[in-house]
Amino acid sequence: MIDLKFTVNGKKVQLRVPGAKRLLDILREDLGFLSVKEGCSKGECGVCSVIFNGRVINACLMLACQADGSEITTLEGLSKNGKMDLLQEAFVETGAIQCGFCTPGLVVASRALLNKNPDPTEEDIRDGLSGNLCRCTGYTKIVAAVKAAIEKESNTRRGDS
Ligand code: FES
Ligand code: FES
Repeated sequence: MIDLKFTVNGKKVQLRVPGAKRLLDILREDLGFLSVKEGCSKGECGVCSVIFNGRVINACLMLACQADGSEITTLEGLSKNGKMDLLQEAFVETGAIQCGFCTPGLVVASRALLNKNPDPTEEDIRDGLSGNLCRCTGYTKIVAAVKAAIEKESNTRRGDS
């Protein structure tokens, strides 16, 4: 067992867990962040995406012992005071959600992308989301949703939203 301290969605947490327990299981089972889903379990589908120290990672591939001292954001941490992140709004408004299984991971990966680059090209968007698979949408509406969120964020920065 190891003692872990890290920050999730702005709150400090302290846990005693088996060192080989996956971050995915800690987030879901110990902390109740059920937006972090399990799909392939081997780093290929992206449904377990979280922002880890500023970059998107697959929580199924990370062990508890690697998480000590980190800052993690899950989908639950993107909404503030009951208001959805602009990306979440854009995914809903653009119809980028069908079965929805991939959506939390895609929104988290999109947020990591826009935090680093607020004005990505379509190629940057497709590249940034290339680790997140969607069986339903064909990606066109997902890219449209990210572009819509970029527009909303740019309007917000200009103060005319
Ligand atoms: S469950 Fe982690 S990448 Fe698929
Ligand atoms: S909406 Fe079904 S997998 Fe993406």
